[in-house]
Amino acid sequence: MKVSKRKFGEEGATLFIIENDNGYVLEATDFGARIVRLLVPTKSGELKNISLGFESEEEYRRQDTYFGATIGRVAGRLAKGQFKMGDQQQQFVANDGNNTLHGGPASFEEQRWETEIVQAENEIQLVFTHRSPDGTNGFAGNLDAQVIYAFNNQNEWRIDYQAETDKTTLYNPTNHVYFNLSGDLSQTVADHELFVNSEKFAVIDEESLPTGELRPVEGTPFEFNLTEGNKVGQGFAAEYHQTQLVGGYDHPFVLKEPSLEKLQAELKDQTSGISVKLYTDSPAVVIYTTNIGDGQLDMFGQTVSQHGGITLETQYLPDAINHQGFGSIILEPNQTFKGTTIFKLAND
Ligand code: BGC
Repeated sequence: MKVSKRKFGEEGATLFIIENDNGYVLEATDFGARIVRLLVPTKSGELKNISLGFESEEEYRRQDTYFGATIGRVAGRLAKGQFKMGDQQQQFVANDGNNTLHGGPASFEEQRWETEIVQAENEIQLVFTHRSPDGTNGFAGNLDAQVIYAFNNQNEWRIDYQAETDKTTLYNPTNHVYFNLSGDLSQTVADHELFVNSEKFAVIDEESLPTGELRPVEGTPFEFNLTEGNKVGQGFAAEYHQTQLVGGYDHPFVLKEPSLEKLQAELKDQTSGISVKLYTDSPAVVIYTTNIGDGQLDMFGQTVSQHGGITLETQYLPDAINHQGFGSIILEPNQTFKGTTIFKLAND
């Protein structure tokens, strides 16, 4: 395996390039502790990029800083940017109507993370660290966040999250990677096959906030837990209020049995033969199908189409703090937050 680095634009960001012995390449940058490209070799010897991203820090800032980024402090929307801790009402900075999305404005995705390259026994690691100061966007506590990207010869990209705080706070990070396994960013992901080991999804409202209802997927366009062959596009034109509301999917799926040993989700493109298997210890995965319309974004010389990518954002359920039964995202000063997600790439 080998690792190299180069400048990523003119603002001081760095791009790290890890290549494994099978010719798979992971490119990540310290700007947002972010995945930029994932290159998979095909039978014809060509490399296909399966992750949506831009060519420099400036392009991310100009077009969209969430692509591929580490998201925090709290992934998804916090209703009205509010949370009541004891008898104290906390107010976070809103950046999505009245709500706080992905930790509020200029969060993790716009920070330059300290980065260390570690050559471990079977993998190369990029160790990203960032201190989010007490009061950032209204969040309490100095939060020391660490995110490790590891890449190995089993073609696995593993993300290890760890964090500590000096005051009681909220923490629910994720990674905002968008996949398009065709290797052609102008194609939609409608024909990708998707499996998700989930029997329930979180119903959302007009503001894309969870209502609190966890609805069985059975008989709905959210049924991706059958063995094989469910197309991502099954919900795009469905006569179903939840998918019509957002023009695709932008929904949390509750994982039935989160584990790093058991398959949690799989995305596959039969045409390219490329697949991604997901393993995680997070209780949920948010699936967002890039419901942005045609012609909004340009990357690597291509124009991204409506439904041109799909995210698998592993996390606790969005707005967990405001709903019974959604799990706890409270981090106390004497605790260490830990979480792991693995994306295993393959090309048959
Ligand atoms: C959210 C979408 C949002 C997108 C922004 C996703 O995690 O669920 O509603 O538009 O992030 O990039």
